[in-house]
Amino acid sequence: MRSFAIAAAAATLISSTYAAPWGAGGLWGRKPDPSKCLTKDAATALAEGFQGLIVAYTTENAQALLAEDLVDYSNSIKSLQGFPVDPFTPVFPSKAAFMAGQGAQPSVPLEILAIDAFNCQNVTLRWDANFGNGNLVAGITHLTASNSQGKADTWQISAIYTEFDSLAWFKAIGGTVTPPGQ
Ligand SMILES: *[C@@H]1O[C@H](CO)[C@@H](O)[C@H](O)[C@H]1NC(C)=O
Repeated sequence: MRSFAIAAAAATLISSTYAAPWGAGGLWGRKPDPSKCLTKDAATALAEGFQGLIVAYTTENAQALLAEDLVDYSNSIKSLQGFPVDPFTPVFPSKAAFMAGQGAQPSVPLEILAIDAFNCQNVTLRWDANFGNGNLVAGITHLTASNSQGKADTWQISAIYTEFDSLAWFKAIGGTVTPPGQ
């Protein structure tokens, strides 16, 4: 049975204050500096890295891909867990909490539909996950990146904002939904 493991960690808000590498210094000569601004390749690598953690989680990949100050926001995941929802409290307030939660979850067949937008610091993707029996879940994920190691290929994910059809996912994992008034 597929289900999100409930992270026991207290949902402490972590404020992440990193220096803004995409500021005026983002321009390197006339081109964006690939160590200070995501390139299309770097943005794609982060999106595919995120997909990889959902499809085939490994601790090694999580360690490499996730920044030490990672925070993950998702009311959809909180809904599945039966927790109260609000957009300001992370579902996984730390890298360790994400790793404990995601590491305990069976593989999810997440496919990237499109990487629609990226800028110096962010990449946004649309995805689906086909659980069968008509439960084709759709989702949108916004990733914020940081680059503490400062090389063109050392970008990491520092924040995840992800929302999806939690009702369809709930049905896919065996939940039943009763519409109001029935
Ligand atoms: C990246 O996304 C984060 C979270 O939504 C936002 O706070 C930040 O301003 C964005 N950065 C840029 C350069 O758009």
